[in-house]
Amino acid sequence: MRVHVADHPLITHKLTVLRDATTPSSTFRSLVKELVTLLAYEATRRVRVEPVDIVTPVAPTRGVQIASPRPLVVPILRAGLGMLDGMTALVPTAEVGFLGMVRDEQTLQPTTYATRLPDDLSGRQAFILDPMLATGGSMLAAIRYLLDRGATDVTAICLLGAPEGLALLEAELGGHDVDVVLGALDERLSDQGYIVPGLGDAGDRLYGTAQ
Ligand code: PRP
Ligand code: URA
Repeated sequence: MRVHVADHPLITHKLTVLRDATTPSSTFRSLVKELVTLLAYEATRRVRVEPVDIVTPVAPTRGVQIASPRPLVVPILRAGLGMLDGMTALVPTAEVGFLGMVRDEQTLQPTTYATRLPDDLSGRQAFILDPMLATGGSMLAAIRYLLDRGATDVTAICLLGAPEGLALLEAELGGHDVDVVLGALDERLSDQGYIVPGLGDAGDRLYGTAQ
């Protein structure tokens, strides 16, 4: 497993506004989109491409295009949905599948309530979107879901991570071809399982408290 934590002043600046409890949902949503686009630049560093012959106005040349089968982008509902537009803006030919997950606020265990993905993901390259890597339970379940269906190359993109979540992924997936790209690695988890300092409940901040 490879871990990349962003180290860029623009990302840190946008995360600071995102974290601020007074930032309204409309600004929060815009910032999430911008941040994903910046993180996707790093996360797609190893996206598979294939050669393609084209003709410029001046001469024939050989370039590259996103390889087939197309990359799969998988937002984890709800909060991951806020990251989808930013990702597809950068990789417009990607296919999109969905995983709906919610963690129990008491036990912190995730439950999967919706799946909309091909059964056979053999050889596919996948990018999972979820703003928060807290205990890591949700992301671990999502990555396992894709690996079990044959995905060979999975990248998790999260805005914030906790050391506890990263340690869980490392312990369970250390030997797999998995990348984790984080906007920032925060200090710890609170007793309630929230990332500290974090940004609160990402789903609520994106969409309000309607469940
Ligand atoms: C949040 C977040 C992750 C999960 C992270 O979702 O978007 O999916 O918690 O926590 P974990 O690392 O401890 O598993 P939540 O369960 O609150 O659902 P929501 O997106 O519908 O708000
Ligand atoms: N889920 C969130 O939305 N925020 C956290 O801090 C932890 C889990």
